[in-house]
Amino acid sequence: MTGPTLKIAERSKMPPFMAMDVMRFAAELDARGHDIVHLEVGQPSSSAPKPVMDALVASMAQQKSHGYAVALGISELRERIAKHYREWYQIELDPERVAVTVGSSTGFGISFLSAFDVGDRIAIPNPGYPAYRNLMLGMGLEPVILQAGPEQGWLPRLEDMEKWDRLPDGLMIASPHNPTGVVIPDKELKEICVWCDKNSVRLISDEIYHGLSYTSRCETALKFTDNAIIINSLSKYFSMTGWRIGWMILPRQLISAAEKLAQNLYISAPTPNQIASLKAFDCIDELDQHVERYKENRKILLSGLPIEFLGNVAPCEGAFYIYADISTLSDDSISFAKVLLEKTGVATTPGVDFDSIDGHRFLRLSFAGSTATMHEAVKRINAFVTTYKKDAA
Ligand SMILES: Cc1ncc(COP(=O)(O)O)c(C=O)c1O
Repeated sequence: MTGPTLKIAERSKMPPFMAMDVMRFAAELDARGHDIVHLEVGQPSSSAPKPVMDALVASMAQQKSHGYAVALGISELRERIAKHYREWYQIELDPERVAVTVGSSTGFGISFLSAFDVGDRIAIPNPGYPAYRNLMLGMGLEPVILQAGPEQGWLPRLEDMEKWDRLPDGLMIASPHNPTGVVIPDKELKEICVWCDKNSVRLISDEIYHGLSYTSRCETALKFTDNAIIINSLSKYFSMTGWRIGWMILPRQLISAAEKLAQNLYISAPTPNQIASLKAFDCIDELDQHVERYKENRKILLSGLPIEFLGNVAPCEGAFYIYADISTLSDDSISFAKVLLEKTGVATTPGVDFDSIDGHRFLRLSFAGSTATMHEAVKRINAFVTTYKKDAA
């Protein structure tokens, strides 16, 4: 008997996040006993800072109810995040403008829903983090590609948007950037903020990789405008991906909309995790040691990987990614990543996740893991490339 033909929303047909598919395949191989070197997913191999874990245990021991928090987050955490802006960026921030979210991922949803209407156009850098585009499509927004590849010096260029028939309603930027690791210099960041204000373009600045930069410190867009939505979280620098604590700094006019959306979407971020997260901002010494490890990992990959594998590699000034140009070896990053995984056990992410135009020439390698993992990856990739070239000859 056939069932009723029920409708499935068009917008649910968004592209999959392929990094997750590779992660699943690599995990299956892991489970079957293969020795897999994980360079595919951007999450630190280190745990949350010890004082954060201790605070969670202490909070549990008090056997409080740990019920819902208010939608924008417990006041202590909103105040601590505001203090973080004073400590890191010398900015006086009203805690009322801070909204605690369930990771930065829900911050995107809340920003898009509070700032844009169905059909609005938002410029997104290409290559870029796939969830921006996928979520926008799911919400009936129109992501408009703003090229930020090698021809643009890997940066989004304002002059390119000025050539369009009409300016977008919003602009999304991320610095340090995923997948390229590129950092937008302060001067350009200021120009972007001023341009957006002048042209009434709502800026959303994803600053989730702040703290992870290897050439210069990153400035926040908040320094240059109060109209941008700033997105951040404890996932990357703070080494707390699974804790699902993020935050937004909101322009005042959006606070009420964001609060209502948060109430209806998830009620509140997990209360025990919010309480424990208060400690995260005081663990800079411990967290900076991870940054030292990433620096070392970055050096091992950049100096140890064969030139054919790195190619015209993006600058990699921040985050924990190398966006390798494999075009002299292959023009199909999906098949190449698959063969690499099968033959060597090294899991990487095909560039097509981040760039539907040129991503077939790139692979993203995450160096968020251990230093031993990077040495092993270099060894296996070098051996693979030598054989691969011989077979092709
Ligand atoms: C650029 C960027 N923004 C946001 C996220 C999502 O992070 P979370 O939801 O864990 O805060 C990621 C995760 O990889 C990312 O790379």
